[in-house]
Amino acid sequence: MRDASPYMRAHRGHTFVVYLDGELVANPRLAHLIQDLTLLIGIGVKLVVVHGTRPQVDLRLRAAGLESQWVGHLRVTDSAMLSHVKEATAATRYALETQFAHATRIRPLGSAPIRIVGGNYVTARPAGVIAGVDLQFTGEIRRIDALMITSHLEHSDLALISPLGYSSTGEMFSLNALDLATSVAGELKASKLIVLRHGGAIVDSTGRLVRQLTQREARELQRATPASSQVLANAVRACQFGVERVHIVDDSDGALLLELFTRDGSGTLISNTPFDQLRTATIEDVGGILELLEPLEAEGTLVKRSREKLETEIERFIVVVRDGATVACGALYPFQSEAAGEIAGIAVDSQYRRHGFGGALLAALEQRAMGLGLVNTFVLTTQATHWFQEHGYLRANLETLPMQRQALYNYQRNSQVLTKNLNPTSS
Ligand SMILES: CC(C)(COP(=O)(O)OP(=O)(O)OC[C@H]1O[C@@H](n2cnc3c(N)ncnc32)[C@H](O)[C@@H]1OP(=O)(O)O)[C@@H](O)C(=O)NCCC(=O)NCCS
Repeated sequence: MRDASPYMRAHRGHTFVVYLDGELVANPRLAHLIQDLTLLIGIGVKLVVVHGTRPQVDLRLRAAGLESQWVGHLRVTDSAMLSHVKEATAATRYALETQFAHATRIRPLGSAPIRIVGGNYVTARPAGVIAGVDLQFTGEIRRIDALMITSHLEHSDLALISPLGYSSTGEMFSLNALDLATSVAGELKASKLIVLRHGGAIVDSTGRLVRQLTQREARELQRATPASSQVLANAVRACQFGVERVHIVDDSDGALLLELFTRDGSGTLISNTPFDQLRTATIEDVGGILELLEPLEAEGTLVKRSREKLETEIERFIVVVRDGATVACGALYPFQSEAAGEIAGIAVDSQYRRHGFGGALLAALEQRAMGLGLVNTFVLTTQATHWFQEHGYLRANLETLPMQRQALYNYQRNSQVLTKNLNPTSS
């Protein structure tokens, strides 16, 4: 609860669009998933759920002896099929409404009963002829009535959207549910598009879970992993529409809550901005930096700094921030007249070591030193001599340090002195 509470605050009042894969509707874990979704409304999230129907439609078409034809990821829907699509969609929607009605009766966090609403939110037009094939009653989205959805969300209602659209000519069209969820998220300028799917989060070509991607990385992976191509294409499209984050999460029990209420999540995150930020610290970062430094100061690895001293020197620090939390920090203290700079207070959260954060920070501090016209950097360390040596630092005598720094040397700590020439060709 302690770890989750900052996320509860952060999510309150934000709009999340959830795509619920049709596979999940028949899944025995659906009841838990629906409870988790109503929990989100309980903490103040404005929730839109767009559900898929592909397996339900497949089942009905097979029973009727009708064979599907596909053009890319779109099914060709003729008039005979459309009635099966309508039936499958209605049955799926009712199944979900039943589960939501049950879950809202439980009323997580003592919230008011949740109303499930729907409506003529989506205007569609025929997808037309693609690659020489007429897709008939398969449609594409023409307009989404964001105003109507928003007004429902303002009343804490849950908007449940089925993948059907109405045309101005009075016809109905079958829509791809994931495309629809993406467009809805974009139109609503949602904070998150959450793709809940049976296939799970994204894995790379070696089968390893991909935890986070920038838009550019998602586009590259889209080419390399055809199985996830449609979901990645939609994730990129959502980011382009201005959705801040797209989460791709599997249907295992608790995966959605882990994704939304823990720092590392459980699925794949595709974000509009690089997920890890490396930047100059501001006064807002003092608390996070102290949390990193204090345990290391207590064990004697780093020299103690008071909050006051840190506040006055805050702009000397660079921090790495992951999802709002400070996971690494370090500082540069310039001795301008000696063209030297001291690297100090480098610390990486113990959970995040060996991910390259330390190295990236050191490189950024050295870059800053070069920007200030400094020729050398040096460090006094008791525990990380080898680490600095691996980053090009050489053991040196105390006398090589700026006079002012020599005067402050603590003989009791007996730190080792290491220096690095930032411009080796000049020596
Ligand atoms: C030293 C420290 C900043 C490295 O951060 P990091 O993000 O883990 O560093 P990187 O991911 O860039 O590098 C990891 C590599 O350095 C090695 N390494 C980490 N700490 C080391 C140390 N104290 N001595 C020698 N090597 C070390 C790791 O074993 C790893 O190498 P490997 O994967 O080949 O085993 C981090 O361990 C830390 O915060 N330590 C406590 C504070 C400290 O000693 N600060 C330095 C004094 S200013």
